[in-house]
Amino acid sequence: MKTLIIYTSQTGFTKKYSEWIAERTKADILTLKEAQKKDAAFFDDYQAVAFGGWAMAGNVAKAKWFLDKASSWKDKRLAVFCVGGSPNESPDVDVMLKKILTDEQKQYIKAFYCQGGFNYEKMNGPSKLAIKMFVASLKKKKDQTEDEKKMVEMISSSYDISDIKYTDPIVEYLESED
Ligand SMILES: Cc1cc2nc3c(=O)[nH]c(=O)nc-3n(C[C@H](O)[C@H](O)[C@H](O)COP(=O)(O)O)c2cc1C
Repeated sequence: MKTLIIYTSQTGFTKKYSEWIAERTKADILTLKEAQKKDAAFFDDYQAVAFGGWAMAGNVAKAKWFLDKASSWKDKRLAVFCVGGSPNESPDVDVMLKKILTDEQKQYIKAFYCQGGFNYEKMNGPSKLAIKMFVASLKKKKDQTEDEKKMVEMISSSYDISDIKYTDPIVEYLESED
């Protein structure tokens, strides 16, 4: 199956996951910017297309381009994978996965999540500021839950919880024929 991985990444985690998936499925790989320059016929060759974007306030960054295209790619195997700072087992992940796609899109696209991390060294100014404000608002809360306390502690400095094992379900889905 000829497969294409398209991704957008600010600090490198989604790039790393995209490269892992591309290696494992022997897929071609493009950044979103590169893919946006291709004409419609370019994608005809591919039987499977996966889009990777990072989690941004419960959504997948820059997924709109792919989701628009996907409505005309229903004959292909389609996946969206989201890479975020939350661990895979966090309840937030389920909530996010459910809202990435509409009920209609869920019929022809499958959504996945891979835990990435935080890299403050590579993060741009507006992102750093947004996180700083988020952390400050959580710290200010009087009745912080245990989960919120853990989150504040975790995202106060850089960490990497990525692992190639989280690509297993994506690889399996892209390679299955049915
Ligand atoms: C403004 C902002 C909002 C974020 N929102 C979330 C979120 O809702 N859920 C989550 O798990 N991670 C969130 N993150 C963390 C990033 O998704 C995480 O660092 C990811 O690994 C970045 O991927 P990248 O290295 O490909 O850019 C957020 C990060 C920023 C900067």
